[in-house]
Amino acid sequence: MIQGNIFLIGFMGTGKSTVSKELKKMLSMECMEMDDMIVERQGMPISDIFEKYGEDYFRDIESGLLVELKEKNKVIVSCGGGVVLRRENIGHMKDSGRVVLLSATPQTVYDRVKNTTSRPVLNGNMNVGYIGELMEKRREKYEKAADIVIVTDGKSTKEVCREIVDALEK
Ligand code: S3P
Repeated sequence: MIQGNIFLIGFMGTGKSTVSKELKKMLSMECMEMDDMIVERQGMPISDIFEKYGEDYFRDIESGLLVELKEKNKVIVSCGGGVVLRRENIGHMKDSGRVVLLSATPQTVYDRVKNTTSRPVLNGNMNVGYIGELMEKRREKYEKAADIVIVTDGKSTKEVCREIVDALEK
């Protein structure tokens, strides 16, 4: 029996959104997508929020939302890829659930995100080298935050979800 919330974290393009939707079906749990909630509340795409108000403003909204979400119970939260950048966010997640890190190689991430323009952090830097560097800079933070780590390269969404459920039930 899975208790508490499930927070999916990981670099952009590791499959958090896709996996959360499949997990929702498998576990019959509610699912929330942080980026979508921020876009809806702010009434503009994330790239516009970054451009108009700056990254710190976005990160403040993100942290505020996590504080709200920790009051929920038995919800799957697909987090933005940068939630681990602020240490307090990790505490907010751990207060109410378990943190599942999805990992992928820079090449896999690139293949998944190369045709998108919605991620301001990668705009103008859409290449494997940059993705690898940024991933390396963030690696320790992701790994420290994670209760469970799931490698997603070459796996189907269903396989990833099964691994998550197995790990959560242990
Ligand atoms: C970000 C990841 C994005 C989004 C924003 C910043 C990041 O979420 O929150 O563009 O800094 O890694 P996804 O991981 O869902 O793309």
